[in-house]
Amino acid sequence: MSERIMVLEGDGIGPEVVGCAIRALEALNDAYGLGLEFVKYDVGARSISQGEWTVEGVIEEARKFRAILKGPMGDPGIRNRQGTEGGLDLILALRFSLDLYANVRPVRLLPGVSSPLRNFSRPDSIDYTLIRENSEGLYASHFGGMELRDEVAVDNQIITRKGVERVSRMAFEIARRGRGSPWDGRKRVLCVEKSNVLRSFAFFRRVFDEVSADYGDVEAGHMYADAMAQYMVLHPDRLNVVVTENMFGDILSDLGAATVGGLGVAYSANLNERMGMFEPVHGSAPDIAGKGIANPVAMLLSASMMLDFLSKRDAAVALESAVIRAMSSGALTQDLGGHLGSEGFTDKVIENMG
Ligand code: NAD
Ligand code: IPM
Ligand code: MN
Repeated sequence: MSERIMVLEGDGIGPEVVGCAIRALEALNDAYGLGLEFVKYDVGARSISQGEWTVEGVIEEARKFRAILKGPMGDPGIRNRQGTEGGLDLILALRFSLDLYANVRPVRLLPGVSSPLRNFSRPDSIDYTLIRENSEGLYASHFGGMELRDEVAVDNQIITRKGVERVSRMAFEIARRGRGSPWDGRKRVLCVEKSNVLRSFAFFRRVFDEVSADYGDVEAGHMYADAMAQYMVLHPDRLNVVVTENMFGDILSDLGAATVGGLGVAYSANLNERMGMFEPVHGSAPDIAGKGIANPVAMLLSASMMLDFLSKRDAAVALESAVIRAMSSGALTQDLGGHLGSEGFTDKVIENMG
Protein backbone atom coordinates (compact mmCIF):
# COMPACT_ATOMS: atom_id res chain seq x y z
CA MET A 1 0.00 0.00 0.00
CA SER A 2 1.36 3.41 -0.85
CA GLU A 3 1.89 6.12 1.74
CA ARG A 4 1.90 9.83 1.00
CA ILE A 5 4.44 11.89 2.95
CA MET A 6 4.07 15.62 3.47
CA VAL A 7 7.41 17.30 2.81
CA LEU A 8 7.87 20.84 4.13
CA GLU A 9 11.01 22.32 2.61
CA GLY A 10 11.50 25.19 5.07
CA ASP A 11 13.91 28.10 4.85
CA GLY A 12 17.65 28.67 4.51
CA ILE A 13 19.41 25.30 4.35
CA GLY A 14 15.97 23.62 4.56
CA PRO A 15 15.52 22.85 0.85
CA GLU A 16 19.16 21.72 0.64
CA VAL A 17 19.01 19.12 3.44
CA VAL A 18 15.45 18.07 2.58
CA GLY A 19 16.65 17.44 -0.99
CA CYS A 20 19.38 15.15 0.36
CA ALA A 21 16.90 13.21 2.48
CA ILE A 22 14.49 12.75 -0.43
CA ARG A 23 17.31 11.47 -2.61
CA ALA A 24 18.24 8.87 0.03
CA LEU A 25 14.58 7.95 0.59
CA GLU A 26 13.97 7.55 -3.15
CA ALA A 27 16.89 5.11 -3.31
CA LEU A 28 15.30 3.09 -0.48
CA ASN A 29 11.87 3.39 -2.08
CA ASP A 30 13.19 1.47 -5.09
CA ALA A 31 15.32 -1.03 -3.16
CA TYR A 32 12.68 -1.90 -0.55
CA GLY A 33 9.49 -1.27 -2.51
CA LEU A 34 8.32 1.14 0.17
CA GLY A 35 5.64 2.78 -1.93
CA LEU A 36 6.33 6.19 -0.46
CA GLU A 37 5.09 9.21 -2.37
CA PHE A 38 6.59 12.58 -1.45
CA VAL A 39 4.30 15.58 -1.66
CA LYS A 40 6.47 18.70 -1.52
CA TYR A 41 5.40 22.06 -0.13
CA ASP A 42 7.51 25.19 -0.40
CA VAL A 43 6.48 26.24 3.09
CA GLY A 44 8.43 28.17 5.70
CA ALA A 45 8.79 31.59 7.29
CA ARG A 46 9.25 33.21 3.88
CA SER A 47 6.18 31.72 2.22
CA ILE A 48 4.02 32.54 5.24
CA SER A 49 5.26 36.13 5.43
CA GLN A 50 4.69 36.59 1.69
CA GLY A 51 1.14 35.35 2.02
CA GLU A 52 1.63 32.24 -0.15
CA TRP A 53 0.44 30.11 2.76
CA THR A 54 -1.40 30.72 5.99
CA VAL A 55 -0.55 28.83 9.15
CA GLU A 56 -4.12 27.49 9.26
CA GLY A 57 -3.87 26.40 5.62
CA VAL A 58 -0.73 24.36 6.29
CA ILE A 59 -2.25 22.74 9.38
CA GLU A 60 -5.40 21.80 7.47
CA GLU A 61 -3.25 20.23 4.76
CA ALA A 62 -1.06 18.47 7.35
CA ARG A 63 -4.07 16.70 8.85
CA LYS A 64 -4.34 14.65 5.63
CA PHE A 65 -1.03 12.90 6.35
CA ARG A 66 0.36 10.42 8.87
CA ALA A 67 3.97 11.53 8.45
CA ILE A 68 5.54 14.91 7.82
CA LEU A 69 9.18 15.37 6.85
CA LYS A 70 9.98 18.90 7.93
CA GLY A 71 12.97 21.00 6.96
CA PRO A 72 14.21 23.71 9.33
CA MET A 73 12.21 26.94 9.20
CA GLY A 74 12.75 30.48 10.34
CA ASP A 75 14.13 33.83 9.32
CA PRO A 76 15.39 36.00 12.18
CA GLY A 77 14.53 39.07 10.05
CA ILE A 78 10.80 38.29 9.90
CA ARG A 79 9.12 39.41 13.13
CA ASN A 80 5.59 39.53 14.49
CA ARG A 81 4.13 42.76 15.80
CA GLN A 82 5.08 41.78 19.37
CA GLY A 83 8.67 41.03 18.39
CA THR A 84 8.75 37.23 18.25
CA GLU A 85 9.78 35.51 15.01
CA GLY A 86 7.00 35.28 12.45
CA GLY A 87 7.94 31.97 10.86
CA LEU A 88 7.96 30.14 14.16
CA ASP A 89 4.19 30.43 14.56
CA LEU A 90 4.00 27.68 11.97
CA ILE A 91 6.45 25.33 13.70
CA LEU A 92 4.73 25.74 17.04
CA ALA A 93 1.28 25.49 15.47
CA LEU A 94 2.26 22.21 13.81
CA ARG A 95 3.40 20.80 17.15
CA PHE A 96 0.52 22.19 19.20
CA SER A 97 -2.42 21.92 16.78
CA LEU A 98 -1.50 18.42 15.69
CA ASP A 99 -0.95 17.56 19.36
CA LEU A 100 2.50 16.07 18.70
CA TYR A 101 3.14 15.88 22.40
CA ALA A 102 6.51 14.14 22.53
CA ASN A 103 9.60 15.60 20.91
CA VAL A 104 12.06 12.72 20.86
CA ARG A 105 15.67 13.89 20.42
CA PRO A 106 18.42 11.25 20.42
CA VAL A 107 21.89 12.37 21.52
CA ARG A 108 24.35 9.92 20.01
CA LEU A 109 28.07 10.08 19.32
CA LEU A 110 28.46 8.82 15.75
CA PRO A 111 31.62 7.35 14.21
CA GLY A 112 34.12 9.86 12.86
CA VAL A 113 32.88 12.61 15.16
CA SER A 114 35.15 13.89 17.89
CA SER A 115 33.25 14.97 20.96
CA PRO A 116 34.56 18.11 22.68
CA LEU A 117 34.33 16.06 25.90
CA ARG A 118 37.77 14.58 26.23
CA ASN A 119 36.73 11.33 27.92
CA PHE A 120 34.36 10.41 25.15
CA SER A 121 35.82 9.25 21.87
CA ARG A 122 34.28 5.85 21.14
CA PRO A 123 31.15 5.85 18.96
CA ASP A 124 28.06 5.32 21.11
CA SER A 125 29.95 6.15 24.32
CA ILE A 126 27.30 8.89 24.42
CA ASP A 127 23.92 7.44 23.51
CA TYR A 128 20.74 8.62 25.17
CA THR A 129 17.34 10.01 24.26
CA LEU A 130 16.05 13.32 25.43
CA ILE A 131 12.28 13.62 25.35
CA ARG A 132 10.92 17.09 25.36
CA GLU A 133 7.29 17.66 26.33
CA ASN A 134 5.98 19.36 23.21
CA SER A 135 2.40 20.50 23.83
CA GLU A 136 2.53 22.72 26.92
CA GLY A 137 5.11 24.02 29.44
CA LEU A 138 6.39 27.56 29.06
CA TYR A 139 5.89 27.38 25.29
CA ALA A 140 2.11 27.15 25.75
CA SER A 141 2.35 30.86 26.37
CA HIS A 142 3.44 31.49 22.78
CA PHE A 143 -0.18 31.82 21.77
CA GLY A 144 -1.28 33.67 24.89
CA GLY A 145 1.44 35.73 26.56
CA MET A 146 0.82 39.41 27.24
CA GLU A 147 2.58 42.71 27.26
CA LEU A 148 1.38 45.83 29.05
CA ARG A 149 2.10 49.40 27.94
CA ASP A 150 5.64 48.59 26.89
CA GLU A 151 6.42 48.12 30.61
CA VAL A 152 5.61 44.52 31.57
CA ALA A 153 5.58 41.24 29.68
CA VAL A 154 4.26 37.97 31.09
CA ASP A 155 4.47 34.37 29.88
CA ASN A 156 2.85 31.62 31.92
CA GLN A 157 3.98 28.02 32.23
CA ILE A 158 1.26 25.44 31.91
CA ILE A 159 1.70 21.88 33.19
CA THR A 160 -1.26 19.51 33.05
CA ARG A 161 -1.75 16.02 34.44
CA LYS A 162 -2.62 14.72 30.98
CA GLY A 163 0.47 16.33 29.45
CA VAL A 164 2.91 14.90 31.98
CA GLU A 165 1.25 11.48 32.09
CA ARG A 166 1.42 10.87 28.37
CA VAL A 167 4.96 12.14 27.83
CA SER A 168 6.21 10.19 30.85
CA ARG A 169 4.54 7.06 29.56
CA MET A 170 6.20 7.58 26.19
CA ALA A 171 9.57 7.96 27.96
CA PHE A 172 9.17 4.69 29.86
CA GLU A 173 8.01 2.86 26.73
CA ILE A 174 11.02 4.16 24.79
CA ALA A 175 13.33 3.10 27.63
CA ARG A 176 11.77 -0.37 27.60
CA ARG A 177 12.17 -0.79 23.84
CA GLY A 178 15.57 0.85 23.41
CA ARG A 179 19.16 0.23 24.44
CA GLY A 180 20.25 0.73 28.06
CA SER A 181 22.82 3.34 29.11
CA PRO A 182 26.37 2.91 27.75
CA TRP A 183 27.58 3.07 31.36
CA ASP A 184 25.89 0.00 32.90
CA GLY A 185 23.35 -1.17 30.34
CA ARG A 186 20.53 -0.23 32.73
CA LYS A 187 17.26 1.19 31.50
CA ARG A 188 16.36 4.32 33.33
CA VAL A 189 14.23 7.42 32.88
CA LEU A 190 15.37 10.63 34.45
CA CYS A 191 12.79 13.34 35.04
CA VAL A 192 14.35 16.79 34.75
CA GLU A 193 12.66 19.83 36.30
CA LYS A 194 13.08 22.55 38.95
CA SER A 195 10.68 21.23 41.58
CA ASN A 196 12.87 22.83 44.22
CA VAL A 197 11.62 26.25 43.10
CA LEU A 198 8.36 26.14 41.13
CA ARG A 199 5.11 24.41 41.99
CA SER A 200 4.39 23.63 38.34
CA PHE A 201 7.57 21.54 38.31
CA ALA A 202 6.72 19.91 41.64
CA PHE A 203 3.47 18.83 39.95
CA PHE A 204 5.42 17.58 36.93
CA ARG A 205 7.55 15.48 39.25
CA ARG A 206 4.58 14.12 41.19
CA VAL A 207 2.75 12.98 38.06
CA PHE A 208 5.96 11.47 36.65
CA ASP A 209 6.37 9.48 39.88
CA GLU A 210 2.82 8.18 39.61
CA VAL A 211 3.45 6.95 36.06
CA SER A 212 6.76 5.37 37.06
CA ALA A 213 4.89 3.01 39.38
CA ASP A 214 3.58 1.21 36.27
CA TYR A 215 7.12 0.51 35.04
CA GLY A 216 8.84 -1.54 37.72
CA ASP A 217 11.39 -2.85 35.19
CA VAL A 218 12.76 0.64 34.39
CA GLU A 219 14.65 2.70 36.96
CA ALA A 220 13.13 6.13 37.58
CA GLY A 221 15.12 9.10 38.81
CA HIS A 222 15.07 12.90 39.15
CA MET A 223 17.48 15.70 38.52
CA TYR A 224 17.12 19.46 38.64
CA ALA A 225 17.63 21.10 35.27
CA ASP A 226 20.65 23.17 36.30
CA ALA A 227 22.45 20.11 37.66
CA MET A 228 21.43 18.26 34.51
CA ALA A 229 23.32 20.76 32.35
CA GLN A 230 26.50 19.85 34.21
CA TYR A 231 25.73 16.10 34.22
CA MET A 232 25.28 16.09 30.43
CA VAL A 233 28.84 17.36 30.10
CA LEU A 234 30.51 15.31 32.85
CA HIS A 235 28.62 11.98 32.72
CA PRO A 236 26.62 11.72 29.49
CA ASP A 237 27.36 7.96 29.36
CA ARG A 238 25.23 7.39 32.45
CA LEU A 239 22.12 8.71 30.75
CA ASN A 240 19.53 6.55 29.04
CA VAL A 241 16.18 8.33 28.64
CA VAL A 242 15.49 11.84 29.90
CA VAL A 243 12.08 13.48 30.03
CA THR A 244 11.58 17.18 30.64
CA GLU A 245 9.45 20.27 30.14
CA ASN A 246 9.28 21.97 26.74
CA MET A 247 11.63 24.94 27.27
CA PHE A 248 14.20 22.97 29.29
CA GLY A 249 14.11 20.35 26.54
CA ASP A 250 14.78 22.97 23.90
CA ILE A 251 17.87 24.27 25.66
CA LEU A 252 19.22 20.94 26.86
CA SER A 253 18.86 19.34 23.44
CA ASP A 254 21.21 21.90 21.90
CA LEU A 255 23.66 21.28 24.75
CA GLY A 256 23.39 17.55 24.11
CA ALA A 257 23.98 18.15 20.39
CA ALA A 258 27.15 20.10 21.18
CA THR A 259 28.57 17.10 23.06
CA VAL A 260 28.22 14.86 19.98
CA GLY A 261 29.42 17.11 17.18
CA GLY A 262 26.87 19.89 17.00
CA LEU A 263 23.49 20.62 15.52
CA GLY A 264 24.38 19.12 12.16
CA VAL A 265 23.90 15.64 13.63
CA ALA A 266 20.95 16.30 15.96
CA TYR A 267 17.78 14.60 14.72
CA SER A 268 14.27 14.31 16.09
CA ALA A 269 10.70 13.09 15.90
CA ASN A 270 7.58 14.93 17.08
CA LEU A 271 5.12 12.19 17.94
CA ASN A 272 1.73 11.19 19.11
CA GLU A 273 0.04 7.82 18.65
CA ARG A 274 -1.50 8.75 15.29
CA MET A 275 1.12 10.76 13.44
CA GLY A 276 4.66 12.08 13.45
CA MET A 277 6.65 15.04 12.19
CA PHE A 278 10.34 14.41 11.63
CA GLU A 279 12.85 17.26 11.57
CA PRO A 280 16.42 18.20 12.47
CA VAL A 281 16.91 19.93 15.82
CA HIS A 282 18.79 22.70 14.05
CA GLY A 283 17.42 25.82 12.41
CA SER A 284 17.63 27.30 8.92
CA ALA A 285 21.30 28.30 9.44
CA PRO A 286 21.17 31.57 7.45
CA ASP A 287 24.97 31.89 7.82
CA ILE A 288 25.62 28.90 5.54
CA ALA A 289 22.45 28.79 3.43
CA GLY A 290 22.95 28.45 -0.32
CA LYS A 291 26.55 27.26 -0.01
CA GLY A 292 25.84 23.54 -0.32
CA ILE A 293 27.83 22.77 2.84
CA ALA A 294 25.09 22.05 5.40
CA ASN A 295 25.43 18.71 7.14
CA PRO A 296 22.47 16.55 6.06
CA VAL A 297 22.98 13.92 8.82
CA ALA A 298 20.34 15.42 11.14
CA MET A 299 17.80 15.44 8.30
CA LEU A 300 18.76 11.93 7.11
CA LEU A 301 18.48 10.40 10.58
CA SER A 302 15.17 12.20 11.13
CA ALA A 303 14.01 10.50 7.93
CA SER A 304 15.18 7.17 9.37
CA MET A 305 13.03 7.82 12.45
CA MET A 306 10.12 8.46 10.08
CA LEU A 307 10.60 5.11 8.34
CA ASP A 308 10.67 3.41 11.73
CA PHE A 309 7.44 5.17 12.74
CA LEU A 310 5.83 3.98 9.50
CA SER A 311 6.88 0.40 10.39
CA LYS A 312 9.35 0.29 7.49
CA ARG A 313 11.84 -1.13 9.94
CA ASP A 314 14.31 -2.66 7.47
CA ALA A 315 14.55 0.53 5.45
CA ALA A 316 14.94 2.61 8.63
CA VAL A 317 17.87 0.47 9.73
CA ALA A 318 19.34 0.50 6.21
CA LEU A 319 19.34 4.31 6.16
CA GLU A 320 20.78 4.64 9.66
CA SER A 321 23.44 2.01 8.93
CA ALA A 322 24.37 3.69 5.64
CA VAL A 323 24.90 7.02 7.43
CA ILE A 324 27.01 5.27 10.09
CA ARG A 325 29.04 3.34 7.51
CA ALA A 326 29.68 6.47 5.46
CA MET A 327 30.86 8.35 8.54
CA SER A 328 33.01 5.42 9.69
CA SER A 329 34.78 5.50 6.34
CA GLY A 330 35.70 9.15 6.89
CA ALA A 331 32.93 10.80 4.88
CA LEU A 332 32.26 14.02 6.79
CA THR A 333 31.00 17.52 6.10
CA GLN A 334 32.94 20.64 7.05
CA ASP A 335 31.24 21.22 10.41
CA LEU A 336 32.75 17.88 11.50
CA GLY A 337 36.19 18.62 10.09
CA GLY A 338 35.64 16.88 6.74
CA HIS A 339 35.60 18.31 3.24
CA LEU A 340 32.39 17.00 1.69
CA GLY A 341 29.41 19.15 0.74
CA SER A 342 25.80 18.16 1.46
CA GLU A 343 25.35 16.34 -1.87
CA GLY A 344 28.78 14.67 -1.78
CA PHE A 345 28.05 13.29 1.66
CA THR A 346 24.63 12.05 0.55
CA ASP A 347 26.27 10.26 -2.41
CA LYS A 348 28.43 8.37 0.11
CA VAL A 349 25.37 7.43 2.14
CA ILE A 350 23.59 6.08 -0.94
CA GLU A 351 26.73 4.14 -1.96
CA ASN A 352 26.72 2.57 1.51
CA MET A 353 23.15 1.33 1.32
CA GLY A 354 24.40 -2.08 0.18
P1 NAD B 1 20.67 27.32 13.66
O1 NAD B 1 20.48 25.94 14.16
O2 NAD B 1 20.02 27.63 12.36
O3 NAD B 1 22.24 27.62 13.52
C1 NAD B 1 23.12 27.64 14.63
C2 NAD B 1 24.55 27.33 14.14
O4 NAD B 1 24.64 25.96 13.78
C3 NAD B 1 24.92 28.13 12.89
O5 NAD B 1 26.28 28.51 12.96
C4 NAD B 1 24.71 27.14 11.77
O6 NAD B 1 25.52 27.35 10.62
C5 NAD B 1 25.04 25.82 12.44
N1 NAD B 1 24.27 24.71 11.82
C6 NAD B 1 22.95 24.45 12.00
N2 NAD B 1 22.58 23.40 11.25
C7 NAD B 1 23.68 22.99 10.58
C8 NAD B 1 23.94 21.94 9.63
N3 NAD B 1 22.97 21.09 9.25
N4 NAD B 1 25.19 21.80 9.15
C9 NAD B 1 26.17 22.63 9.56
N5 NAD B 1 26.00 23.63 10.44
C10 NAD B 1 24.77 23.82 10.94
O7 NAD B 1 20.16 28.31 14.80
P2 NAD B 1 19.90 29.90 14.77
O8 NAD B 1 20.94 30.56 13.94
O9 NAD B 1 19.71 30.28 16.17
O10 NAD B 1 18.49 30.04 14.04
C11 NAD B 1 18.30 30.31 12.65
C12 NAD B 1 16.81 30.27 12.34
O11 NAD B 1 16.29 28.95 12.47
C13 NAD B 1 15.97 31.15 13.26
O12 NAD B 1 14.96 31.71 12.49
C14 NAD B 1 15.43 30.17 14.28
O13 NAD B 1 14.27 30.63 14.92
C15 NAD B 1 15.17 28.96 13.39
N6 NAD B 1 15.13 27.65 14.05
C16 NAD B 1 14.25 26.73 13.54
C17 NAD B 1 14.21 25.44 14.02
C18 NAD B 1 13.23 24.44 13.46
O14 NAD B 1 12.78 24.58 12.33
N7 NAD B 1 12.88 23.41 14.21
C19 NAD B 1 15.12 25.06 15.03
C20 NAD B 1 16.02 26.01 15.53
C21 NAD B 1 16.04 27.30 15.02
C1 IPM C 1 13.68 23.74 18.07
C2 IPM C 1 13.61 25.22 17.79
C3 IPM C 1 12.19 25.71 17.98
C4 IPM C 1 11.84 25.61 19.46
C5 IPM C 1 11.86 27.12 17.52
C6 IPM C 1 12.46 27.43 16.19
C7 IPM C 1 10.38 27.31 17.51
O1 IPM C 1 14.53 25.92 18.56
O2 IPM C 1 13.01 22.97 17.36
O3 IPM C 1 14.42 23.33 18.97
O4 IPM C 1 12.13 26.54 20.22
O5 IPM C 1 11.27 24.59 19.82
MN1 MN D 1 15.78 24.65 19.74
